[in-house]
Amino acid sequence: MTITQETRTLGTDRTVPATPLGRDGRPRPNGPLALLDLLQSYVAEAAELLPRAEPGLTERTYELLELTDELEIWAIHWPQGQGLELHDHGGSVGALWVVEGTLEEHYVRPEQVLGRRNIVAGGGAAFGPHYVHDVVNSQAAPATSVHAYSPPMESMTFYRQDERGLVVDRAEYRADPSWAP
Ligand SMILES: [Fe+2]
Repeated sequence: MTITQETRTLGTDRTVPATPLGRDGRPRPNGPLALLDLLQSYVAEAAELLPRAEPGLTERTYELLELTDELEIWAIHWPQGQGLELHDHGGSVGALWVVEGTLEEHYVRPEQVLGRRNIVAGGGAAFGPHYVHDVVNSQAAPATSVHAYSPPMESMTFYRQDERGLVVDRAEYRADPSWAP
């Protein structure tokens, strides 16, 4: 698998790599765009209350902010060099919003090559149920992002790359004691 050199920096615009469309060609109300809208509103309303990365943080940490039958919302803190390897979201749609710092994302494009982009504070992205990506903080400053998944994830499958392309490495399940988004 090759990594394309495409790098897009997101500001307040929204780039949605995979948006399921209804028969009329418009985004489904329960699709990634609606989830991103919901997440953006949530972040705006909770701005003062959202947890921020602790100074001196050395490991990725996460906090569950909301959990219903329909969706879950997490805050994730990313110190420099910390990330999560290529993974899917168990069939859930998702959205993320960066509230401090910058995250670098590599995502599997339909032609099975990796795209790359930076998502900066005040920007976000949304994705469909088959999306596979990794996320890392490559910057010196810690980053915090807020993530929404609908329905709440039951599992995540992790992948590695070899000469055959994307290969399943392992799966993790919500029931696992070590479960983390
Ligand atoms: Fe993810």
